[in-house]
Amino acid sequence: MHILILNGPNLQMLGRREPAVYGRATLSGIEESVRQVAAGLGVEVTFRQSNHEGQLLDWIGEAPGHFDGIVINPAAYTHTSVGLRDAIAGAGLPAVEVHLSNVHAREEFRQRSLTAAVCVGVLCGFGAAGYEWALRALVRHLQNQGQSTITT
Ligand code: DQA
Repeated sequence: MHILILNGPNLQMLGRREPAVYGRATLSGIEESVRQVAAGLGVEVTFRQSNHEGQLLDWIGEAPGHFDGIVINPAAYTHTSVGLRDAIAGAGLPAVEVHLSNVHAREEFRQRSLTAAVCVGVLCGFGAAGYEWALRALVRHLQNQGQSTITT
């Protein structure tokens, strides 16, 4: 099983970006913890970040046949990107949306997610640990589905 973990804009700044909101963990620290969890689960992960909407769309569009599912923190694009929503829906792979902060307890514009409805589920408010739970939830979901979509 191979899971694509995508991170959207500004998440490369984690660790020094608004630590009171997002915590002190860096993105590479999160990647390291997620890799450990993935190894324990016996799944492979590919971890990527981009500040560019089109790059995220390209990665999602190319994912079928290479990945079984997607964990995504779409960051600010959560609240703005119809393109990202359409890419997730179009790829047809199960996706889990994750946010470090509890977006529902923040500004009103963060309380709307354009991507959540095309994901299996959403985890938010658990900081860096949310990535671990998102991965576990996705793997369990895929195991329950009992299928792999990888053809190459
Ligand atoms: C975020 C929440 C978004 O509203 C924000 O734009 C981010 C990070 C989170 O992980 O809490 O960049 O996705």
